[in-house]
Amino acid sequence: MGIDDLKIEQLKLRSGEKWTHYSADVLPAWVADMDFEIAQPIRTALDQCISISDCGYPVAYKQTGLPEIFAARVQQRFDWKISPSQVDIFNDVVQAIYFGLMALSSKGDGVIIQTPIYPPFIEAVDIVQRQSIFCPLSAERYGYEIDFDQLRSAVTSTTRVLLLCNPHNPTGRCFSRSELEDLADIVLTNDLSIISDEIHADLVFAPCSHIPIASLSPEIAERTVTLMSASKAFNIAGICMAFAVFGSDSLRRKFNKIPRHLRGGLSALSVVAVTAALTEAQAWLDEILDYLHGNRDYLSEHVRERWPRVGYYPPEATYLGWFDFRAHGLSPSPYDFFLKHAKVALGDGARFGDPGYGFIRLNFATSRKLLKQIINRMDLALDEVPIQAT
Ligand SMILES: Cc1ncc(COP(=O)(O)O)c(C=O)c1O
Repeated sequence: MGIDDLKIEQLKLRSGEKWTHYSADVLPAWVADMDFEIAQPIRTALDQCISISDCGYPVAYKQTGLPEIFAARVQQRFDWKISPSQVDIFNDVVQAIYFGLMALSSKGDGVIIQTPIYPPFIEAVDIVQRQSIFCPLSAERYGYEIDFDQLRSAVTSTTRVLLLCNPHNPTGRCFSRSELEDLADIVLTNDLSIISDEIHADLVFAPCSHIPIASLSPEIAERTVTLMSASKAFNIAGICMAFAVFGSDSLRRKFNKIPRHLRGGLSALSVVAVTAALTEAQAWLDEILDYLHGNRDYLSEHVRERWPRVGYYPPEATYLGWFDFRAHGLSPSPYDFFLKHAKVALGDGARFGDPGYGFIRLNFATSRKLLKQIINRMDLALDEVPIQAT
């Protein structure tokens, strides 16, 4: 299957949740997996691993070569100079977020979250019994922006952590240097730590570019744990591996107080797949990014022409579109409406925190043909609903 001619029958053979969770007549545009086939070097590496039954316990993480590979890659891609010794491994980014919250704060402490937000952020803070300090991004004329006055006034003496998502899911914002510097200023003034989820760092559309917040200054680096992964950009989330970059030994020591075995073991398949992704699959990623850029522009055009009442800012990063359907008054929610009447499964905005009510998140990492089918189904469903007076 080429990028442009994905076959639904083949996609349905996959056992992952994207194509199995809903009934067969539903087109899935929800969970953040891409429909594209994975890069050939990753397939070759996995095939080789299986062909020689190389599925025993892998060597220790430090001997895999991955810390060096990862450090070299972030320098090349993001101009971020780190030492391989700062790089550690987790099974996935969300696991590392839980570790970070437990290591860097205590029960009842405040954690800043910029809503709307990837739902596990809200759940994690809740589950480890910290206090969410919601700082909504505000939708301005040109896109979502950080309301710095609100953020400054939300910080209290018990606030410990900024749980940053950059690039931001679901709005697709790729924060600028000056925004990150203003955030850094608040962090330093209030003696906070940063857990920075940068899992979408490789999925940024030109002319934007990703800036790891830890790269701003040594002072910020030393209070930041940066989380990255090959899983989103290379479409291998089920392979399970995430990188943590500790900006200081003291941060790492705090993490290491939590028993290492709770991270689970390193998977043999993840070692070969991630190594291939980071060293041999850049051409594949460049092609995919180009294609996603086209899908993003197609969606923007569609909103302009057919959905004039829908609020939408084309994402600067990620393959996720965030659509404000509030003006349509879809009942009981846009998510339920499109699932029932369009047979399209989208991300339910309400799960992304209070500012997400009336929104949906659409995953556009599929072929243009399938994306058009998804949009066409949504159009037909919308045509059936009388427009509500505002
Ligand atoms: C911002 C963000 N963080 C984390 C994850 C999940 O990462 P992992 O599977 O490594 O836990 C996602 C998945 O979509 C995401 O969008």
